[in-house]
Amino acid sequence: MPQALIIGVKKGGTRAVLEFLRLHPDVRAPGPEPHFFDRHYHNGLEWYRSLMPRSEEGQLTIEKTPSYFITKDVPRRVYQFSKHLKLIVVVRDPVTRAISDYTQVASKKMDSRSFEEMVFVDNTTRIVDTQWSPVRIGVYAKHLKHWLQYFPLEQMHFVSGERLIENPADEMLKVQQFLGLRPVINHKHFYLKSRKGFPCILKPNRQKGSHPHCLGETKGRIHPMIDPSVIRRLRDFYKPFNIKFYRMVNQDFGWV
Ligand code: A3P
Repeated sequence: MPQALIIGVKKGGTRAVLEFLRLHPDVRAPGPEPHFFDRHYHNGLEWYRSLMPRSEEGQLTIEKTPSYFITKDVPRRVYQFSKHLKLIVVVRDPVTRAISDYTQVASKKMDSRSFEEMVFVDNTTRIVDTQWSPVRIGVYAKHLKHWLQYFPLEQMHFVSGERLIENPADEMLKVQQFLGLRPVINHKHFYLKSRKGFPCILKPNRQKGSHPHCLGETKGRIHPMIDPSVIRRLRDFYKPFNIKFYRMVNQDFGWV
């Protein structure tokens, strides 16, 4: 059973963190997102266990399901499962995150409305639509409040999605520290080769030596150009929530 969860946020860089953690010999993790604590809770714990890879004594099992962070019932369910669980949240500038989220959704639809059309309740008043999921997810302070009702801040670790791209080794060092793992993942595991300019990893392989691996095509999509006045409006909208979030976690992520 997992001793740690990557609970969010969608489009923050959660796949990268999990893939990087899998470089560690003491980490075991299922590839697909289990969605146990939100969608499949009724399936019960044995179902959940069956999704986990086999692990040995001393190995840490971790799963990632980014929707956990924003789903109201999940903190309580996770607490009932284990109050000692370690929780990782990968956060990213909520404005870029919203555009990334929109880009993903739009890529699956033929006739998607533009970001500019979707983001406001109506275009005259330009009131931001807080019910629209790409906007809603980025109000981190609000979601975090639910988790802090059950878990102390020390049991949570916040990864900067921006630093994860700029300096994955340093960001992963902090993750390993938080998880109580030996600092095995370091700069030697990363190289900057992806066409898109993202860090890729060298995966150890017993037969072939280490081999290069970049995240799949669905990561690092090209974002559409968004009207700068819309971006400004969104920045103003998020500013107080970002400041509140920085205070709650005692960290400044540099978005405002
Ligand atoms: P974009 O597609 O908007 O660039 P998640 O895995 O949580 O859905 O997050 C996806 C985001 O991870 C991507 O968003 C990308 O910016 C970010 N990312 C971070 N490190 C990455 C890496 N090494 N390779 C590809 N994407 C990475």
